[in-house]
Amino acid sequence: MADSPNCDLKSLSPLQLFERVTEQGEKVRALKAGKAPKDEIDAAVRMLLSLKLSYKATTGQDYQAGLPPKDLVLINNGTNKEEDEDFVDPWTVQTSNAKGVDYAKLIVRFGSSKIDTDLINRIERATGQKPHRFLRRGIFFSHRDMDQILDAYENKKSFYLYTGRGPSSQAMHVGHLIQFIFAKWLQEVFDVPLVIQLTDDEKYLWKDLTTEKAYEYARENAKDIIACGFDINKTFIFSDLDYLGTSTGFYKNIVKVQKHVTFNQVKGIFGFTDSDCIGKISFPAIQAAPSFSSSFPQIFNGKENIQCLIPCAIDQDPYFRMTRDVAPRIGQPKPALLHSVFFPALQGAQTKMSASDPNSSIFLTDTPKQIKTKINKHAFSGGRDTIEEHRKYGGNCDVDVSFMYLTFFLEDDDRLEQLKQAYTSGELLTGELKKVLIETLQPLIAAHQERRKQVTDEVVKQFMTPRKLAFEF
Ligand code: TYM
Repeated sequence: MADSPNCDLKSLSPLQLFERVTEQGEKVRALKAGKAPKDEIDAAVRMLLSLKLSYKATTGQDYQAGLPPKDLVLINNGTNKEEDEDFVDPWTVQTSNAKGVDYAKLIVRFGSSKIDTDLINRIERATGQKPHRFLRRGIFFSHRDMDQILDAYENKKSFYLYTGRGPSSQAMHVGHLIQFIFAKWLQEVFDVPLVIQLTDDEKYLWKDLTTEKAYEYARENAKDIIACGFDINKTFIFSDLDYLGTSTGFYKNIVKVQKHVTFNQVKGIFGFTDSDCIGKISFPAIQAAPSFSSSFPQIFNGKENIQCLIPCAIDQDPYFRMTRDVAPRIGQPKPALLHSVFFPALQGAQTKMSASDPNSSIFLTDTPKQIKTKINKHAFSGGRDTIEEHRKYGGNCDVDVSFMYLTFFLEDDDRLEQLKQAYTSGELLTGELKKVLIETLQPLIAAHQERRKQVTDEVVKQFMTPRKLAFEF
């Protein structure tokens, strides 16, 4: 195989190419050591150079002996569905385990780092604030380079936050709130700017939506995001359809990323095929660009080197593995990341929440009655079949959706622990646990709706106007 330079090198993955270069290097060495005829050695060397060139074209990196293309191997979700049941990418989250995705395995497969107690303690020391319940409870469980952000912060160097939303419909669910609640907390404790990308272009490309509808959803979703309580002086929200045409900084970064990622790479990372439209194929560069401060000259005074921290659920990581791979090659700092687990569907951690199935989740538009009915009727229970059995053997919090939801939204750690003990021992019944969840979510959603009512079109316009924020750079 190594002798056939014209076999389709383009179809090989970065790892396969790496192996071919290594193999060919060994062959050249063996030929030289065996004092083979000069023309044979020359042909093998030519082949080696051609393989190295293909490797560089595919990965954007020079071949280095003994250093396989780690990020790029892992980028391809590193998964073989047969050996591993979990599958996670920006469009699919699949597991056959009732407890949900195995996040410890995902950390290894994606090559990220666990958010451990040391890191949480460090965040507490740096900010002087009690860590958010999402950190205390392992809901944000994985990171990339958060220690670098803290090193810089401790040395009085600022950074900024970037997160986003794909406005596929008017209705956002409580799972979407996780990212914005956490981004708000990070913004408050670190006192840094936040940019929020609304990828109406992405939703136009992927869904059956007109550009007008996607833009309308972006503005509607912006109201829900603003209702989370972001500070207008510190937050810029933008729609791609709007901002891309007005910011040369943003567009310049998009083309820089586009120049440094091959079609082969995006196929490997995102699973695109030859029949996907070219809009999809180039979209990852648009989600990558806000990771660079030069995309927002009005906020960062044209500075290019302000580091970015991205809170998101781990499904978005493929975009940012790609971004981190490209960043040094376009002279920009790699964005750091904080990854959350997924908020499960009401029917259990194996199923997916979907805007088209109103019973799959609690939506931010649900009335108190709808919340009550949905939880009572649809929340998957880890309880036993009969009261007698439940009292005798107890419930299973690991698969009980009401308990899972409470870990996200009940602030009081002691109360949560008491509920866990009581449910596990059988003292607390499923109906009683559901009641606690209903009473936790109803006021939370009602308060959100109240705040959303105050968000006028004028307020949305202000948040979405490119402008200087309350920070000097
Ligand atoms: P989207 O709209 O699918 O999701 C918005 C954010 O919510 C997270 N998320 C969830 N978190 C917890 N539990 C869930 N069940 C759940 N479902 C979604 C997503 O990870 C995301 O953080 N392409 C993106 C929009 C985007 C973006 C970004 C997201 C553009 N730039 C930067 C994060 C960071 C999208 O369609 O997200």
